[in-house]
Amino acid sequence: MDKMLVTSGRQLNGSVAVSGAKNAALPILFSTLLAEGEHTFGNVPVLKDIESTAELLQSLGCETIREGHTFKVQVAKLKSFEAHYDLVRKMRASILCLGPILAKYGEAVVSLPGGCAIGTRPIDLHLDAMKTLGAEIELKEGYVLAKAKKLKGATVFFEKTTVGGTENLMMAATLAEGETIIENAAKEPEIVDLANYLNKMGAKISGHGTSVIKITGVEKLTPARHDIMPDRIEAGTLLIAGAITSGEVEVTKCNPQDLEALILKMRDSGFRVDTTKNSMKVFPQRTWEAVDITTAPHPLFPTDLQAQFMALMTVAKGTSVITETVFENRFMHVNELMRLGADITPKTQVAVVRGRPDGLTAAPVMATDLRASASLVLAGLIAKGETLVNRIYHLDRGYENLELKLSNLGAQVKRVN
Ligand code: EPZ
Repeated sequence: MDKMLVTSGRQLNGSVAVSGAKNAALPILFSTLLAEGEHTFGNVPVLKDIESTAELLQSLGCETIREGHTFKVQVAKLKSFEAHYDLVRKMRASILCLGPILAKYGEAVVSLPGGCAIGTRPIDLHLDAMKTLGAEIELKEGYVLAKAKKLKGATVFFEKTTVGGTENLMMAATLAEGETIIENAAKEPEIVDLANYLNKMGAKISGHGTSVIKITGVEKLTPARHDIMPDRIEAGTLLIAGAITSGEVEVTKCNPQDLEALILKMRDSGFRVDTTKNSMKVFPQRTWEAVDITTAPHPLFPTDLQAQFMALMTVAKGTSVITETVFENRFMHVNELMRLGADITPKTQVAVVRGRPDGLTAAPVMATDLRASASLVLAGLIAKGETLVNRIYHLDRGYENLELKLSNLGAQVKRVN
């Protein structure tokens, strides 16, 4: 069923636990290719993207076993070093198998991921980094052919902060000869979770979470066990769901310190947000002020929460200027929010949102990408009437049972054909 019917008029109240982080699980699952044997992970969310990753690992010769939220990967000597287009086009993050396969086996053939709704999503920085470590890279018929007898540690300066590029390079460097320094490394919490797992496997990584990461290459890594960190983007989405419905919602099993930028902006907007070490709570607010946000690499406002925060601003008092600096086309949700009556003027990197305190009105809308679909569900919670969100399968890539979590908080949402 690829539609979701969202009925307005319900205040969300109660407590909801967050699932494991998609954007930590994906690189960590690919990192298993660095070490033969059985890897065991806890708190692995049940998501389409995790299934796609399992499919790709299986196509390389690995076995994957899911038991609830426990996920095992058995890595034997790979039967193939090729990540096929049919698998990669379903999930761009598949490019994260390049670093591990190249470092462990000296050759990798990975399909170019191609673009997606939010931008061209090039991988030039990934490939330049591999070249700096001594790899030969050739692009042929839509594939990256990478070869390296033995990667050599070096200093890599990313002229643009890249989460995936930092992850691919960090994984490759664990088995390179000598020391690799990553300058202008991404500092996202998911990078830290990946580095923690790599170190559990015997890697020598320091500085993760800062803009300079140091990796000293080792001969061999061995499989380990790890619980995936909580999903900060899901946590932020659920907090905004409580706020937008003027409810009182506690989000548990999360790391509020990973969401400081969002929490500060919600407080600036007039919400009371209390936090403990692993939970955060928003309190009822009848009206709230428009505030400006600019997305940027961590620890600044996350681009993955821009669409959701925009939904909150569509009914704020005043005008909010939303600037998207990470992706070049991440306003696909704007036209759909405008179908609900939102008053937004989208420009190239900026969207001006004039808040409508009189609220939104329901209409059929279409999800275009993962976080845009969440934004439309949030807006549907308050758009008077029944909002039918089409192409909701985008949501299943990154949110585990979102409609169940929202219904448990009192929302009226259901899947329909
Ligand atoms: C990761 O994507 C996340 N995906 C994205 O989450 C997230 O939005 C993004 O980081 C930014 O935080 C995963 O972790 C699986 P980037 P990634 O490389 O690694 C440009 C979601 O909704 N760039 O940091 O692809 C790129 O085009 C997804 O869960 C290059 O130019 O993001 C973008 O403009 C969406 N060349 C900017 O850098 C490169 O070689 C940041 O991209 C690589 C990136």
